[in-house]
Amino acid sequence: MDRFIIEGSRDLSGSINVSGAKNAILPAMATALLAAGKSTLLNVPNLIDLKTMSHLLRVLGARVEYEAGSMAIDASDLCYNEAPYELVSKMRASVYVLGPLLARLKEARVSFPGGCAIGTRPVDLHLKAMEALGATINLEHGYIHAVAKELKGADIHFEKSSVGATINALMAAVLAKGTTRMFNAAMEPEVDSTIDMLNQMGARITGVGSTTLTIEGVESLNPVEIRMIPDRIEAGTFLIVGALSTAPITVTNCQPDHLEALITQLRSAGCELEIEESSITVIPPKVIKPTDIITLPHPGFPTDLQAQFTVLMAHAEGISYVEDTVFPDRFMHVAELNRLQANITMNRNVATIKGVLQLSGAEVMATDLRASAALVLAGMAAKGQTIVSRIYHIDRGYDRIEEKLNGIGARITRENA
Ligand code: EPZ
Repeated sequence: MDRFIIEGSRDLSGSINVSGAKNAILPAMATALLAAGKSTLLNVPNLIDLKTMSHLLRVLGARVEYEAGSMAIDASDLCYNEAPYELVSKMRASVYVLGPLLARLKEARVSFPGGCAIGTRPVDLHLKAMEALGATINLEHGYIHAVAKELKGADIHFEKSSVGATINALMAAVLAKGTTRMFNAAMEPEVDSTIDMLNQMGARITGVGSTTLTIEGVESLNPVEIRMIPDRIEAGTFLIVGALSTAPITVTNCQPDHLEALITQLRSAGCELEIEESSITVIPPKVIKPTDIITLPHPGFPTDLQAQFTVLMAHAEGISYVEDTVFPDRFMHVAELNRLQANITMNRNVATIKGVLQLSGAEVMATDLRASAALVLAGMAAKGQTIVSRIYHIDRGYDRIEEKLNGIGARITRENA
């Protein structure tokens, strides 16, 4: 199993490039199943989660080819309707095939995703949306079995804002008969990106950028070639690296309007930011100011940057509070950060962080994707050597993170232990 050996140093400078967004590409891959033909996704990084999804699409009968950042998905021969446990248990986003399978094959069997390191993460909202569209759902032998002779447009009221349920319901509703209206739909950029792809394929969805979406069902969709949006969470992770460093860092190929909540909090922490059309330069402060954050659905502060921002606050002069309302149990990184001599205490879903001037290198263990990123950031800022094990978590969502960070002066070595 690979691990990172990190020699701490905050002496970083230069520019760092952002790849395509994992959380937009995963639903785009499922969306490609809706057309009987070959769709092409551009700006696709080489990530473990995307390989897992490719594997799943092949199991369903699609052909998937990946070369030099371009992914071709030919779903002409989509014929199997079962997403097996081995794949769904590796990656929850596998549940995205539920909507397209129901829409095209009228039946789906998808293994029920279990809990994961960031909490229980139910899929009830996905299932209620499919039922509203006319599917009959049975839970049997660890599988969701969904059948719908015909999907019919309906009103769907989401009790809670959910990225995954909104996207899954959209993928089913576009081929349903009649009009669907969604209320309290999620507004994350990855939802907008899915709507953009679906509309380019011939779907009729209006209301993008709001919580109310209207979908006029169509008979069929066409394949498409589309460029994937930049990864706002990778960009945000690199902006936080910039805030922790001693010289300006420029994050290139990002979309600044996707990062407004983080930009506001980085300014509160004392950073200066120079924002261009597709790049942001962060000029770090001499002293990091304590800043409180509460994670919320978009456009609020993203839960996927909570762990990384906690590392920044561990270096602030004073006390900050970090509350996660989206995934209240997503604090596995706290105990590991305290091994690096951070001073963080937990009260339910609120972390109280007493800033310390310098973390101290140690051996730590990655527990999930964003927690791993936080540990890498902490190791880069700590005095001495930090070893982060179980970094396969980070390879799920960051493309060659050590190469990218070494390009701005980090000293990270990948070792096969
Ligand atoms: C997506 O997960 C992302 N994953 C997550 O990123 C991200 O943290 C999350 O959205 C929130 O932004 C992908 O895009 C593949 P949700 P998703 O449904 O869709 C509750 C990463 O690190 N809920 O918006 O699963 C849920 O428990 C990953 O890249 C229900 O109660 O998240 C949570 O409290 C981790 N019932 C809230 O809604 C449901 O049926 C929001 O979750 C579904 C969700």
